[in-house]
Amino acid sequence: IGRKLIILDEAGSTNEYAKRIAQNVPEGTVVVAKRQTAGRGRKGRRWESPEGGLWLSVVLKPPRVDPRLVFVGALAVVDTLSNFGIHSGVKWPNDVWVSGRKIAGILAEGKAGEYAVLGIGLNVNNDVPEELGKMATSMREILGREVSLSEVFHTLVGNLDHWYGLFLNGRDGEIVSALKERSIILGKEVKIIDDETELVGRAVDIDVDGALVLETPGGRVRVLHGDVSLRFL
Ligand code: BTN
Repeated sequence: IGRKLIILDEAGSTNEYAKRIAQNVPEGTVVVAKRQTAGRGRKGRRWESPEGGLWLSVVLKPPRVDPRLVFVGALAVVDTLSNFGIHSGVKWPNDVWVSGRKIAGILAEGKAGEYAVLGIGLNVNNDVPEELGKMATSMREILGREVSLSEVFHTLVGNLDHWYGLFLNGRDGEIVSALKERSIILGKEVKIIDDETELVGRAVDIDVDGALVLETPGGRVRVLHGDVSLRFL
């Protein structure tokens, strides 16, 4: 991963850029932008991407489309933060949190059988938007100093290599058990919000296929992470 690098001063969204070129570049190509003018999060939300943060997308050509690709991104971010002395955890399915605040998000998109784009946004030295003040944080805020963006970048790419390598080797059990270990939701009461439906229960497990297992008053329910949101109660 990262053998071919495309570095942009500005992009609308690196995910959009990566999707446009995906069919014409080798697997592992990384698109990174200093700032994004139309950064996107899940569910069509805006993703603030001023200078100082790490905004990148990786073009992958996995043999199977798999929701667990998001876990590859999340685990690589958690390891990267830990390499910089920051303890973080994964809020299933795709957020990375530090002490109750979001520091990174992952957006996986793609075309089945052709390519997948793994977009990662990590707050490094950038300001987090005022209105997200209590909900978001950055590496700079936690460490009390700026960190080298290129060091963070190279560390992240190395960690992506590691976890994507396990994925390619079919070692899903290891990926999912690592995710469980680093999960901040297991044992907690949560609410799952789908387009029309809401489901409340205790998060008790993550199945090997990536589904969250909830214990609800009506019994155990499995939730696949398509487009759901998860809130703590
Ligand atoms: C989320 O938490 O909802 C996912 C956020 C993903 C943001 C990253 S930044 C790089 C890439 N380009 C985008 O437009 N989004 C992703």
